[in-house]
Amino acid sequence: MILIVGASGVLGGRIANLLLDAGKPVRALGRTPAKLEALRARGAEVVQGDLRDRASLDRACAGVRQVLTTAAAFETRQMAQVDGQGNRNLVDAARAAGVAHFVFTSAHAARADSPVDFFRAKFAAEEYLRASGVPWTVLRPAAFMERWGETIGGAIAGKGIATILGSGENPINFVSVEDVARVAVQVLDDPDAPGRSVPIGGPENLSMEEVARIYERVLGVTAKRKRAPLPVMRILGAVTAPVSPVLSRMMRAGVMMDTTDQTLGPSETLRRYPIQPTRMEDWVRAHHAAPSAPRASA
Ligand SMILES: NC(=O)c1ccc[n+]([C@@H]2O[C@H](COP(=O)([O-])OP(=O)(O)OC[C@H]3O[C@@H](n4cnc5c(N)ncnc54)[C@H](OP(=O)(O)O)[C@@H]3O)[C@@H](O)[C@H]2O)c1
Repeated sequence: MILIVGASGVLGGRIANLLLDAGKPVRALGRTPAKLEALRARGAEVVQGDLRDRASLDRACAGVRQVLTTAAAFETRQMAQVDGQGNRNLVDAARAAGVAHFVFTSAHAARADSPVDFFRAKFAAEEYLRASGVPWTVLRPAAFMERWGETIGGAIAGKGIATILGSGENPINFVSVEDVARVAVQVLDDPDAPGRSVPIGGPENLSMEEVARIYERVLGVTAKRKRAPLPVMRILGAVTAPVSPVLSRMMRAGVMMDTTDQTLGPSETLRRYPIQPTRMEDWVRAHHAAPSAPRASA
């Protein structure tokens, strides 16, 4: 049995579906089981649980061979309780249940000295898992193109506006959720995965300006730029911290994206876990048809 924590989310849901496609037994944990009905209909066992509730995790881990978690609370005030104590609760529950392999979804940006509390929490959770004695694998994906591409270019279609954080010139690696999910299911099948950190990047490092230009090219429009200047993000990141930790975190993440190395080169990962990596332009084309593009007749 494979327990997926975060199965109601974008990545966790995709991984659960790929496992079900392959006929694997899946237990999907969610705070709101109603969100997991589609997975239940496909044969998953659904359990109610919360990373902040250790007893619910003990129940969820019973009889489980592998745990994979994608859960995170980046955009909530409970981030520390979920990504900090919550992840530690899950590791402890997995150890108590004798789980054979724990796969933790971290991030390429996770590090001990990150300016963003969320990425420090991710790194601390990695360290906790590595020291736990439970056989572990850490997935370290780059920025998701679904999330960031749409942040930058999603409003080009309707409003003709591209959103650029900072200079928009810093190269960033973008990976598609589908590709991360395809690597994750191979990791679960790999007897040599325990003890490995697995960087998962897309095929290109692109600046936000380059992403905006991809959307413009695909949609056949020229977009205005809505800019969040670096000094504004820096000031907002500092002054909003006591009153709005979520806004503060977003601003600091924006600064981090524009001012630190966000690139990822070709890695060992693709040799070990072969996938056909998705290019940003192909993803945008697949999800946004140009309004003026001629349609093929039936
Ligand atoms: N977005 C990026 O660019 C990026 C880049 C690298 C890594 N990542 C990481 O990739 C992972 C998956 O991202 P995603 O976009 O799929 O996230 P998502 O769609 O926001 O899903 C988050 C999941 O976490 C669950 N969750 C939140 N609080 C919980 C709690 N207290 N107890 C149990 N579950 C809880 C949510 O379940 P509910 O239905 O209960 O809310 C949801 O299933 C995350 O760990 C993220 O940090 C993301």
